[in-house]
Amino acid sequence: NWTTGNILEEQVERIRQQIGDSKVICGLSGGVDSAVAAALVQRAVGDQLTCVFVDHGLLREGEAEQVERDFVAATGVNLYVANEQERFQSALAGVSDPETKRKIIGREFIRAFEEAERAIIAQAAAEGEKIKFLVQGTLYPDVVESGGGEGAANIKSHHNVGGLPEDLQFELVEPLRALFKDEVRAVGAQLGLPQEIVGRQPFPGPGLGIRIVGEVTKERLDLLRKADAIARAELTAAGLDNDVWQMPVVLLADVRSVGVQGDGRTYGHPIVLRPVSSEDAMTADWSRLPYDLLARISNRITNEVDGVNRVVLDVTSKPPGTIEWE
Ligand code: XMP
Repeated sequence: NWTTGNILEEQVERIRQQIGDSKVICGLSGGVDSAVAAALVQRAVGDQLTCVFVDHGLLREGEAEQVERDFVAATGVNLYVANEQERFQSALAGVSDPETKRKIIGREFIRAFEEAERAIIAQAAAEGEKIKFLVQGTLYPDVVESGGGEGAANIKSHHNVGGLPEDLQFELVEPLRALFKDEVRAVGAQLGLPQEIVGRQPFPGPGLGIRIVGEVTKERLDLLRKADAIARAELTAAGLDNDVWQMPVVLLADVRSVGVQGDGRTYGHPIVLRPVSSEDAMTADWSRLPYDLLARISNRITNEVDGVNRVVLDVTSKPPGTIEWE
């Protein structure tokens, strides 16, 4: 449509004006905003852009691959991947308190991102180039409220706080600053980004780390990823993606209950489904998903995910509940 086309051309032209022939860096979180911002800058200045993806191992099934393979294929962007799964796992070992987990994930993310930045700066310096700009996927509502956002919020708050050493000061490029989420999705689709990325639900920066109630371990992450993938696949198959704002799937790792499966007793963990309807995540209501869909999700998760013997539905609005459990 002509409006999206105009936004795209206008932004590409602005980005070219701002960046000139300098080098620019952009963090990808796996979310929509950073992906669309990066794709716009790539369209405007091509190879002058390097994207950084810190893989903290806390994303959902398939998401890291969608960034590393599908996003790169769709845009041709230069991508620097920092494989930091082990770093995050060891930093989170033995930690169950939600705020402590959030702080650790935020801190490690900043450190990992800075290390990646330094590597890219050094590489550019070796070629006699300097990185002058940093892209951020700030949306209009972020500008107004300076809250919310997706995974990129980690990068956002970090760089906005200005806690960077002198040699890492960048000028910001914010190509989504005038746009709302639906416009960002439209621009992303126009730029040829995969639907899995453009249509993605909001997902918290700390990722699955705050969807495991209890200590975060590799085994628990793998288990939760499986359960989450089943729940998402069934929601999509039922054609209800657009009817829910987001559907966190939560593992109660510190809770066990007795069950029976085959002819044996089980003592496993519950999985919580948290489908919500919302306009802006400030308030939310629990989604009245069809019972047969809930039954399919429950059957599949208890049959296919080892260690889970119960699926429960969260029927709390926000307030008093929050959307995420931690
Ligand atoms: P709550 O749980 O506060 O979540 O009702 C509101 C919305 O924010 C998302 N969320 C986050 N997003 N970094 C983010 O970028 C975070 O640390 C974070 N925590 C929660 C949540 O998924 C929901 O959309």
